[in-house]
Amino acid sequence: MVVPNHVAIIMDGNGRWARERLMPRYYGHREGVKSLKRIVSYSSDIGIKILTVYAFSTENWKRPIREVQALMQLMEQTFALELEELIANGVRVKVIGDIASLSPKQQRIWQMAEERTKHNQRLLLNVAFNYGGRMEIVRAVRSIAEAVQEGRLAVDQITDDVFVQYLFTNDLADPDLIIRTGGELRLSNFLLWQGAYAEWYFTDTLWPDFDVEEFEKALASFRQRERRFGSIKEK
Ligand code: IPE
Ligand code: IPE
Ligand code: MG
Repeated sequence: MVVPNHVAIIMDGNGRWARERLMPRYYGHREGVKSLKRIVSYSSDIGIKILTVYAFSTENWKRPIREVQALMQLMEQTFALELEELIANGVRVKVIGDIASLSPKQQRIWQMAEERTKHNQRLLLNVAFNYGGRMEIVRAVRSIAEAVQEGRLAVDQITDDVFVQYLFTNDLADPDLIIRTGGELRLSNFLLWQGAYAEWYFTDTLWPDFDVEEFEKALASFRQRERRFGSIKEK
């Protein structure tokens, strides 16, 4: 059975899930963490090597301060509670996003999660936190411009392969499958460069309801796809 090497997920719909239950949005985010745990564990069981999850976007700062604070706190709690289990399960944690502009406490948490899991090899859990695809590309362009200005890089050396080294994901394999829960049919600034040839799967299921059965549906759909990468089907 073909299992995608790299699956990425836009975990959307927590707020609506809570609203349907007349609960505060925060309740949905908390429930969303349970979904994430299920999917991380299942991904590593079936041999997915990389799982990238969109947890907080550069645009999510526009939300009411109370919700932003709740999301930050939830992230801190989650890593405090789950880190040992992630280590025991061979999960390596990496964060992609602008971490330097988070609070010192947040930065320490991410550094510790990366440091303490760095030798794990079963599954790479890439957490997109304070992540935005445009910001990532602009940041790469700035670094490249600096390198050119300082004579470390020549303009004609700037190729696809060199460019990716400047992205948060470095030379990590591109996502094969990107799943978006919550019913919206848009990218919302996720993996703009890396997703160029990803297969997309959209589902109305809200993230807190996304379970192994729903995940299997996405994987089954992926297996039906014919990836051509601009070429044509071989005879
Ligand atoms: C996704 O759920 C989680 C984050 C963006 C942090 P939402 O909070 O966007 O939930 P909806 O889309 O409003 O239902
Ligand atoms: C995308 O969801 C970001 C995350 C899931 C972290 P949003 O809910 O922020 O996206 P929009 O606003 O519906 O495009
Ligand atoms: Mg949303």
